Amino acid sequence: MPNVQSSPAADDDQTWEALRREWSFAAGVTFLNHGSFGAPPRPVLEARRQLLDRLNADPMHFFFREMQPMMAAARARIGQFLNANADDLVFVENATVGMNAVARGVRLAPGDEVLATDHEYGAVLRIWQRTCDRAGARLVVAPLACPVQNAAEWVDALFAEASPRTRLVVVSHVTSPTAVVLPVAAICAQARARGIPVCIDGPHALVTVPLDLAALDCDYYTASCHKWLLAPVGAGFLYVHRRAQATIEPPIVSWGRTIGQEPSWRDEFNWSGTRDVTPCLSVPAGIDFLEAVGIESFRRRTHWLARQARDMITALTGRAPLVPDDPAWYGSMISLPLPPGEAAPLQDALWERFKIEVPIFEWQGRRLVRVSCQLYTGTADIERLRDALASLLDLAAK
Ligand SMILES: Cc1ncc(COP(=O)(O)O)c(C=O)c1O
Repeated sequence: MPNVQSSPAADDDQTWEALRREWSFAAGVTFLNHGSFGAPPRPVLEARRQLLDRLNADPMHFFFREMQPMMAAARARIGQFLNANADDLVFVENATVGMNAVARGVRLAPGDEVLATDHEYGAVLRIWQRTCDRAGARLVVAPLACPVQNAAEWVDALFAEASPRTRLVVVSHVTSPTAVVLPVAAICAQARARGIPVCIDGPHALVTVPLDLAALDCDYYTASCHKWLLAPVGAGFLYVHRRAQATIEPPIVSWGRTIGQEPSWRDEFNWSGTRDVTPCLSVPAGIDFLEAVGIESFRRRTHWLARQARDMITALTGRAPLVPDDPAWYGSMISLPLPPGEAAPLQDALWERFKIEVPIFEWQGRRLVRVSCQLYTGTADIERLRDALASLLDLAAK
């Protein structure tokens, strides 16, 4: 487990530096894109390796006898972490599969509407556009304007686009291009008052912001655990509230119910063909790692780093951030406006000339840089990004 003294101050780079040794990035690479692709630390990789060894030592024993109880134990662990009943959770490969399972099951009639925001992940908008097109329904994308000053502004802007035909609200918990924490509790409360189910897309929220699924009371919540929860690639979950479980349809049809081990909505997810389940089984190792560091310490440290990025890049560009300087609005990741221009050439140049991995987005006519801060990130990484941006954009670093 990680060797870090209990609760170092968030700005104590030197002490936190010790944790970097738990990761094995290629030499010279500054990795600031944990939000897209999170790398697991060594103890998680080791846990996964042991699981793979066990699988390969006797695949029949592993898949027939060991896998189901191990999956149940892993579900119980993540359920405890998110304050959800393990019976309301299934493992999926990633959030994309979870979202597709919701989209497959939701019954839409011609003229019905699905309501989302213009901060959603592109693939999620595609899933819902296709689902709506097939049903003759309409995907309504509510604009949530930036900069924003208070949560009520955005809740009102979202529900201004709702109608009596709205059958589902789909929102991120933490958005992808803009890295903003959406006011999901207020959105769920408002949707409940209107009798509209809510599906939350949560990959960036796990760990980085508090999440209590029982209290949130949404209908669906899906996330990938291979980002902030530090699991190996290929681990995600779908939570479905009891009131919505009858609507779920897995995107992959396999043996499912005919295995007949536990007759429930989860059966169809138990076996979606022979696949590598070790990433999902490694989720408890990711939680163990983070809990050994301390979830609150993680949040304080990574938010402090994100705030450093905010201060440095704002000072460089002179452009106002998208949201107020408050952990209620951003956690371990922050998106900041850059001078207008194309995104892809800048992202490529950051990599080719400076070996910095960071995504540059074009969003609503703006060019944004999104900085992800993990336990391996240090102030020097952010300074390197600031200096590289200054050089590429011909701005003077202040
Ligand atoms: C907000 C959001 N939703 C969904 C996804 C999809 O995650 P995955 O590719 O792990 O399915 C991403 C990926 O970055 C994301 O940022």
